[in-house]
Amino acid sequence: MTIVTGVTVRVPAKLNLQLAVGPPRADGYHDLVTVFHAVSLFDEVTAEPAGRDGITVTGEGADRVPADSGNLALRAVAALRAAMAGPAAGFAVDPGGVHITIAKRIPVAAGLAGGSADAAAALVACNDLWDVGFSQPRLLEVAAQVGSDVAFALLGGTAVGRGRGERLTPALAPSTQYHWVLAFADGQLSTPEVYAALDRLRAAPAGSAGGTAQALPAQAGPAQAGPAQAGPAEPDLDAGLMSALRSGEARLVGRALSNDLQPAALSLFPALRKTLAAGLELGALGALVAGSGPTCVFLAASGDRALDLAVSLSGAGVCRSVARVTGPVTGAVIVPRSK
Ligand code: C5P
Repeated sequence: MTIVTGVTVRVPAKLNLQLAVGPPRADGYHDLVTVFHAVSLFDEVTAEPAGRDGITVTGEGADRVPADSGNLALRAVAALRAAMAGPAAGFAVDPGGVHITIAKRIPVAAGLAGGSADAAAALVACNDLWDVGFSQPRLLEVAAQVGSDVAFALLGGTAVGRGRGERLTPALAPSTQYHWVLAFADGQLSTPEVYAALDRLRAAPAGSAGGTAQALPAQAGPAQAGPAQAGPAEPDLDAGLMSALRSGEARLVGRALSNDLQPAALSLFPALRKTLAAGLELGALGALVAGSGPTCVFLAASGDRALDLAVSLSGAGVCRSVARVTGPVTGAVIVPRSK
């Protein structure tokens, strides 16, 4: 007889190929239109039965992840329990405690939604461990309560996100694999602080706030080409990016990358301008800050070009380390147990 001790789930990091941010809402969040894209940099999350809930974090940046009930993965576990107890689900029996072990490869506070990925993985792991049987649409609803990027980490692929980012529509795109280079920064950025910096830049009188983004070449994307401007009342999906994705041509996708948070991230972390400029000079098809940063993302024409770019970027001394990844990849999946 096999005794099932735990369930392990592998979950990817995300990039935002477009991140259009509206004005702040009454609840402090910002309405977004974003194009999420899951890439092959994974955390692994294991859920095991335990007397009471607990968490262990190992790997990349583990010392900077809260190992208590404030951890997003444990908040996801609590949200799943609450959903199980709800009238629609009607689980009468408490499933008991769980110990979550997170093996991190996605850097912490890097703009790659690593914390959200771990939360999504914890949901999938406990759904299996406790035999809950929630469908993916039901898990997506629970995920949306836990954080803005959690639902996408469940879904993966390439998808348009609206609302806070939690309302998802998968993007129909050909099965092109894109080759990306990630340049990890020596430092972190806090997502709320980057959003607040964007609000300040937009509120500043014209001409006083624009210096942050001007020095970058225009092909880094629309958000990089000009000064920080008042955002649109309703952010809009970039038709140019969507048609580039439909074409499957990396060159067109590279030109269409954009991130409204980039000027704000650059204002808080000016060294990133050098990193972005270096990648473009070294032949990247496009460059942008990942989400709220400070990771910088470069699109390469092929796996070989990505390798060249990664080697050159590491040699240029403009980042802490680099990784080559491909996308899109699927969202959180259970790792089969070895026999
Ligand atoms: O939802 P999540 O916890 O990932 O968001 C972290 C922070 O990022 C929020 O507290 C908020 O300050 C900011 N945020 C935002 N608008 C969004 C998503 C996040 O202002 N759509």
